[in-house]
Amino acid sequence: MSNSNNWLVSSHHKAYAKINWDLLILGRRFDGYHELDSLVSQISIFDEVIVTISNGSNIEIVSEVAPGEENLCYKAAKIFFKKIGCDFKVKVEITKNIPYGAGLGGGSSDAASTIIALDNLLKTNLKKQDLFDIAMQVGSDVPSLLFTGWRRIKGRGEQVEQINGPTLKLVLLKPDCNLNTAEVYKKFDDQPYKKQSLPKIIERFKTPRNDLQKVAEKLTPEIRILLDQLSKHGAKKVSMTGSGSCVFGVFENDKEVNKAILKIDASYKKIVSTCP
Ligand code: C5P
Repeated sequence: MSNSNNWLVSSHHKAYAKINWDLLILGRRFDGYHELDSLVSQISIFDEVIVTISNGSNIEIVSEVAPGEENLCYKAAKIFFKKIGCDFKVKVEITKNIPYGAGLGGGSSDAASTIIALDNLLKTNLKKQDLFDIAMQVGSDVPSLLFTGWRRIKGRGEQVEQINGPTLKLVLLKPDCNLNTAEVYKKFDDQPYKKQSLPKIIERFKTPRNDLQKVAEKLTPEIRILLDQLSKHGAKKVSMTGSGSCVFGVFENDKEVNKAILKIDASYKKIVSTCP
């Protein structure tokens, strides 16, 4: 697209949240990151992201959360323009529905939507691998959020494979406090590392295991209370997503979901969702 005339185009996206059904840490890497294996699914809550571009060179973020350079959408646009070797004026307007600092990938999903929007609006026709590389430079969660449905993530987050997975009824509970991903991984590294086996996928769907959960519970003891609340009120399976602090429970049907919502302490933030 030419950068010489006056024009303005925009695109509207639903940036879906994700849950890490499980999160297995297979080791520490030389770059300080961790080697992961995680089954991830899109869930039904989303942020709304409107990306508008025109000629010029400025990145503007309109959001009640992180409205400046710290926003991952800002980073995504900057890296995108560097990749195509050309600047534009871009405004990213975000309406937040996904709680942040929760392990639900809200900021990363907004950034993934920004990358897709810029590629579409500018008709840059970047290869899938280029979009992936841009996403990876923005953050480890971003490449997988270029996809929908169930996927298996490996490595630092750059290996993404779409997989078949179940449709589930979920209740999410979010503690008052947010958790910082880097801090949770750091605490994980402070404890002795015990190499654990990698169960078969079928076993992983039966019993989710999140290797960051114990340290997250130490940082935020409310996580344990919320997991117990979900189990006590009918969840068949419970776990924590990502590095926390949000937890989720799987319920058999809508009736069980509604029963749980009524019984779980009213002071907790509850989100009813489905996956994928
Ligand atoms: O890549 P991103 O900036 O989103 O990662 C945030 C933090 O999460 C990193 O600084 C790192 O501490 C931790 N992390 C990790 N291993 C991964 C992904 C994230 O240690 N595979």
